[in-house]
Amino acid sequence: MPEAISKVAISLKVNSKLHSVQVEPRTLLVELLREQLDLTGTHVGCDTTYCGACTVLMNGAAVKSCTVFAVQADGSEILTVEGLEKDGQLHPIQKAFGDAYGLQCGFCTPGLLLSTLQLLSRNEQPGDTEMRKAIAGNTCRCTGYQNILKAIQSAARNMKDA
Ligand code: FES
Ligand code: FES
Repeated sequence: MPEAISKVAISLKVNSKLHSVQVEPRTLLVELLREQLDLTGTHVGCDTTYCGACTVLMNGAAVKSCTVFAVQADGSEILTVEGLEKDGQLHPIQKAFGDAYGLQCGFCTPGLLLSTLQLLSRNEQPGDTEMRKAIAGNTCRCTGYQNILKAIQSAARNMKDA
């Protein structure tokens, strides 16, 4: 009989809600979000730190949640795509991606939204190079990226006017 793996108690805030959970030391943050907290908007495209579909904000910084152990997130504040909408209103970044056709299948979109939020929270008016650098870790197989860049520019305008 294989020995049961003992679990570790951790607490973290996800989308402003406090969760106290038990996880195995090997549990990935993305597994905790999707499988224990039912936040399936964070996607898994590769599991090898390549695609960026699993990107969330951890204490304001974009991380690939397939590369972070849940225990490393103990005590942290996590923002996932589900936390962007407020009072039934899309976040300005979500609106911009829709308006600028910055998505097709949408699989990469949650990660791109969070990478964009990190960028715009640090730089209100990013240039082309800064935008490209900010999303360098997010792979999109559909759009060719041009409309994503337009969406980021439009989101920057929306957030300034908000
Ligand atoms: S699923 Fe995490 S980078 Fe692809
Ligand atoms: S919209 Fe399909 S992968 Fe980006």
